[in-house]
Amino acid sequence: MTTPSSHVNGYDQSKHWAAPARNFRSSARLHLQLQHLLMRNTLGYLLEPTVEKSVANTRPLKVADLACGNGIWLTELHSHLARNNVSAQLDGFDINPIYFPQAAYPPSTVSLKQLDILAKPLPNELTCIYDVVHFGLLVASSPAQT
Ligand SMILES: C[S@@+](CC[C@H](N)C(=O)[O-])C[C@H]1O[C@@H](n2cnc3c(N)ncnc32)[C@H](O)[C@@H]1O
Repeated sequence: MTTPSSHVNGYDQSKHWAAPARNFRSSARLHLQLQHLLMRNTLGYLLEPTVEKSVANTRPLKVADLACGNGIWLTELHSHLARNNVSAQLDGFDINPIYFPQAAYPPSTVSLKQLDILAKPLPNELTCIYDVVHFGLLVASSPAQT
């Protein structure tokens, strides 16, 4: 039987908070989806217009989304940039990969990787390479207490 985390190798759910498996699909994913739509519709944009203007000539545009959840912000940004013929590298990072969609679903410009964004030091290959760094609704996900 397919479980919500079955596409994540070596995933240990006891190390992260996640909605109970029985209502995972109807709670956690939907929650992230609705939260994103609410935020986007309230703000009226994905990429803050001043930021977008400042990177208007940067190609390919390299964007990092920290604590990316299910990667919906990057997925929508991909569509927005593609409509404007902007080539881009869109990298999402989250400590908890259970929210990541199956590999076949995100567009080819979007990559989602597991990373504790508070880790010190951060991997060298990730420092000073991004034109835009975004994070939205970062909420601490603390390990389960035993
Ligand atoms: C409320 S969700 C927001 C997801 C996404 N940014 C959005 O706006 O839809 C908070 C996310 O922060 C992630 N998170 C919490 N602590 C983190 C850490 N230290 N490193 C990376 N991700 C973290 C959680 O796993 C969760 O996916």
